[in-house]
Amino acid sequence: MVHRLGAINDQFAHIPMAPADPILGLSLGYKNDKFAKKVNLGIGAYRDNEGKPYVFPVVKAAEAKIVADATLDKEYSPIDGLADFNKGARGVLFGFDHADCANESGRVASAQTLSGTGALRVLGEFLHKFRKTPIYMSKPTWGNHAGIFAACGLLTHEYRYFDPKTKGLDFAGMIEDLANAQPGSVVLLHTCAHNPTGADPTPDQWHQIAEVVKKNQLYPFFDTAYQGFVSGDLDKDGYGLRYFLNQGFQMVIAQSFAKIMGLYGERTGALHFVCNNKQDAARILSQVKVIVRVNYSSPPKHGARIAAMILNDTGMRAQWFKELIAVTDRINEMRLALRSAVEKIQTPGDWSHITTQIGMFSFTGLTLKQSVAMVEKHHVYMTKNGRISICGLTTANVDYVAECMKDVVMNH
Ligand code: LMR
Repeated sequence: MVHRLGAINDQFAHIPMAPADPILGLSLGYKNDKFAKKVNLGIGAYRDNEGKPYVFPVVKAAEAKIVADATLDKEYSPIDGLADFNKGARGVLFGFDHADCANESGRVASAQTLSGTGALRVLGEFLHKFRKTPIYMSKPTWGNHAGIFAACGLLTHEYRYFDPKTKGLDFAGMIEDLANAQPGSVVLLHTCAHNPTGADPTPDQWHQIAEVVKKNQLYPFFDTAYQGFVSGDLDKDGYGLRYFLNQGFQMVIAQSFAKIMGLYGERTGALHFVCNNKQDAARILSQVKVIVRVNYSSPPKHGARIAAMILNDTGMRAQWFKELIAVTDRINEMRLALRSAVEKIQTPGDWSHITTQIGMFSFTGLTLKQSVAMVEKHHVYMTKNGRISICGLTTANVDYVAECMKDVVMNH
């Protein structure tokens, strides 16, 4: 599109207003809302039972140690970030005892990034530069995936994933679409707690996914934002990714510490390429660094220092695991509470999916109109696709949310 530039003293008159972000825009609306019973079920950020943002105690402890350490400076990090952080991040993904955590073989190329979104953007640019194949994403997927990859110039396709009838995984559709995908394409898989649906493959289904990915020579790409946030157990939540790893796949992983360590605003994450050998990894990392350098030069230190300290100290790591379990327990309690509240007041429909879906979100099945009514009529902020963040529920607001759901189901 050709834009006619404005007159010299009105240089930007031709710029249209962009729409608010479908997820982040909700937080702003919530903040400005004066209604006493307003509820924020929009953004995927953990809240305690008072509805307050939560800082993991182990994160506070690490932070205190960092502040007290006079040897630490504020020099630039290397382009690929802090080595200790990258090692700890691999421990989360592969297991702290796995050979690819210490990476003595050198076959993993890791770079600290600006959280998971930064990893996706760097990866998108990398794929556009070096691999001209399309990327297949689940339908639906996280709202920002398509935008990031389009901004990188990648061609995107969708594979079937969600069955609106069962409100669970459309496994047959997924397998069929992956089998028919253009060979050599990249396939984006959510490691766990699929966003937005909360529907994950079972271990046996992961085996079958691996089979079709191998057969069709697809390149697996795991977006990993919730490992540990489903069950509190990194091994269990990382089952699919680790199965692929142990099957010998070359693959790439975008990893976020926003939710699992509550480091949202610290922008702490990583991009890891698991390669066949250290020569491939070295060349890939050199190119990743070129992309990082022209984007933001090098990543920030604070969040990476916190995560590195926790992950590389067995005592602090054990404390983190305990705190993760407490957090996931609260999420699961809120799932049960919401389901029982909507069922108790006889909201029309089957609501069993609230407790069969997992992770941070529930894909409620509320329609666009009903979701909009939740926000506009009832001040319950949620995305227009019917997704709610279970973490925004508390024992004090769950009955109100259930009543609002009943109202929109019956009247909208
Ligand atoms: C979400 O899906 O709500 C989170 O991943 C936050 C975000 O950046 O969208």
